[in-house]
Amino acid sequence: MRLILLGPPGAGKGTQAQRIVERHGIPQLSTGDMLRAAVSAGTDVGKRAKAVMDAGKLVSDDIVIAIVSERIDQPDCANGFILDGFPRTLVQADATEKMLSTKDLDLSVVIELRVDDKELIRRVSGRYSCAACGSVYHDTDHKPSKDGVCDKCGATEFKRRPDDNAETMASRLEVYYKETSPLIGYYYAKGKLKTVDGMAEMDAVTASIESILAGL
Ligand code: AP5
Ligand code: ZN
Repeated sequence: MRLILLGPPGAGKGTQAQRIVERHGIPQLSTGDMLRAAVSAGTDVGKRAKAVMDAGKLVSDDIVIAIVSERIDQPDCANGFILDGFPRTLVQADATEKMLSTKDLDLSVVIELRVDDKELIRRVSGRYSCAACGSVYHDTDHKPSKDGVCDKCGATEFKRRPDDNAETMASRLEVYYKETSPLIGYYYAKGKLKTVDGMAEMDAVTASIESILAGL
């Protein structure tokens, strides 16, 4: 199963991707996570990406396409993968198609999570994650069951993203509508698009996604 989770910042792509990983045993390929890892490691790519990410703009197509292309060749992607936050431009979508067709592979489905702007801003401004395993939480909606302890790994340190502030979020949303939302029509025309109400409660979103995956 090879699927794309498409949606604006804060739509729940990362949250739902983690749940698909647990249920289906295929890896989550998040370009945002990969770029943040490169920033932390201080690699050349990380140095070039940091200012762009902090401003809420898109890192260049060449860089992200190269990262994903290398990642999907890893053995753990042999049975499928979830693309989370990629592709994000029409150039990236065309590159994805080429990457897969040279390997004789096809995309199973593109799942669009639809959420309105006010809710996206609310979600992103309350978001934090486990510093050890990356599990995502929210100040009011989704706290760990034991205060200050990660449900998944038991760690007690958490962090917030530097781009989760009102100013950068405005830029991320603008970029989404301009650069990424055209992919909705692109995948609809290919008969690959399924849209889910991302405004619903987390478990309900998971149930909608599971019913799409069950029908593949
Ligand atoms: P990236 O890391 O991909 O960020 P994003 O797309 O902005 O998406 P987010 O991670 O913010 O949101 P999400 O949809 O995963 O939501 P989440 O599940 O966390 O990219 C960051 C930057 O990297 C980009 O701005 C760009 O610079 C660069 N980049 C990355 N990929 C690139 C590419 N392909 N090309 C170029 N540049 C690239 O949920 C959000 C919050 O809401 C959480 O707190 C969660 O607990 C809560 N929540 C989730 N679901 C629900 C629900 N149903 N109800 C209530 N709360 C919920
Ligand atoms: Zn954890």
